[in-house]
Amino acid sequence: KIVVRQLINNFNKYKNKEVQISGWIRNNRDQKEFGFIALNDGTHFNTIQIVYEKKKLYNFEEIAKFRAGSAITVNGIVIETPSAKQPFEIKANKLILEGDCPEDYPIQPKRHSREFLREMAHLRSRTNLFTAVFRVRSLVAYAIHKFFEERGFMYVHTPIITANDAEGAGEMFRVTTLDLKNIPITKEGAVDYSQDFFGKSTNLTVSGQLEAESFALAFRNVYTFGPTFRAENSNTARHAAEFWMIEPEMAFADLKDNMMLAEEMMKYIIKYVLENAAEEMEFFNKFVDRELKNRLENIMNSKFAQITYTEAIKLLKESKEPFEYPVEWGNDLQTEHERYLSEKVFKKPVFVIDYPKEIKAFYMRLNEDNKTVAAMDLLVPGVGEIIGGSQREERLNILEKRMEEIGINKKEMSWYLDLRKYGGVKHSGYGLGFERAVMYITGMNNIRDVIPFPRTVHSCEF
Ligand code: 4AD
Ligand code: MG
Repeated sequence: KIVVRQLINNFNKYKNKEVQISGWIRNNRDQKEFGFIALNDGTHFNTIQIVYEKKKLYNFEEIAKFRAGSAITVNGIVIETPSAKQPFEIKANKLILEGDCPEDYPIQPKRHSREFLREMAHLRSRTNLFTAVFRVRSLVAYAIHKFFEERGFMYVHTPIITANDAEGAGEMFRVTTLDLKNIPITKEGAVDYSQDFFGKSTNLTVSGQLEAESFALAFRNVYTFGPTFRAENSNTARHAAEFWMIEPEMAFADLKDNMMLAEEMMKYIIKYVLENAAEEMEFFNKFVDRELKNRLENIMNSKFAQITYTEAIKLLKESKEPFEYPVEWGNDLQTEHERYLSEKVFKKPVFVIDYPKEIKAFYMRLNEDNKTVAAMDLLVPGVGEIIGGSQREERLNILEKRMEEIGINKKEMSWYLDLRKYGGVKHSGYGLGFERAVMYITGMNNIRDVIPFPRTVHSCEF
């Protein structure tokens, strides 16, 4: 008994031998004397062809009626077929039904729209498209761990439940055991969190960065890779309420080191996927985005561009593009601006650095001009912002001043200030949105289609 992955990777070992394989029928066509089943067993993107012959199989008529979606087990001989479309096929000696699939099976052997399939998150992984997407998603995760492991970065698990709002944007999902029908109130009229599970107000993390900083100042180079949650009310094709983030953090590193790491990482992941998911990438190139492979291959051979926010505003103002959102120094860049810069101006990934401090988080290092911070966003064609990062403010007095300006409680964040007080050094890091990376590499244009079970505004199916 073997799986398709073994068979394809080790064809010579199985050639002309009898094997047993179990899987699901993607398609079944029968003629008078022969029938052909496209079988996928989940272990490889490709389906394999099973040939069944009337002369050989007592249950030929029955097999011919097996519908797409049914599970079968087949015993048969592996035959090389150099002249056919597929390199080999299995000639069945025995073929039995393991699990029937009735006629109302929604996934039929034809093209379904992605919108239709989105309503069926529990079944869509059985289509070619989603088989490819989720295999690549898994591979990208592996490539990321491999990249950091090879460079000596330590993997740290930062908490999911936290009392911090790392980004200070107030977009958090609360975690509470309080009875919503009977919320305890203090004398002052506020929610009495002392009666809550943790004795204080807590939420799901929006980023593991602050805790990663604590580890970077002990282990030097670390990274987190975990789920993050944002109650952003943006119903777009690139925002999810639950998404994964990769956040490296490096001690003794500045913004330049940070950009170098980000560029090296992106190229590494792309190369890894092109090499290790060739069939899937071929499929995306054919059915999702005809420019995909070309674009990704070009990226690996070119240096990412780099401009300041101030230069970016100038370029956007000079453009004749009819933007929906106004371009003004001090406004945050919108997706349309980000995509214009990476797709029209640079035609490749571009780092935008030195944003106005008002539109960035409190922890970013203030530049000499006192107006901008050492931030870096990486914008890529097709997606827009894929990475957000910065050099962190390591100067205690400046950080405290900034927190006071914004109104962040210094007492609650005293642990974070300790990191500056006790052996604080310059340090930098960034967050890569995992789903956005998968979108970029597969060419898929909706974040809902690269997450197995997506959670977005007003949408949380089972
Ligand atoms: O730019 P962001 O908000 O940066 C941070 O959270 C920093 N603490 C990271 C760090 O420096 N360690 O988020 C980082 C990335 C974005 O560039 C984007 O790719 C992704 O996370 N992201 C989202 N992805 C999907 N859905 C959302 N709602 C996202 N919000 C951010
Ligand atoms: Mg950002």
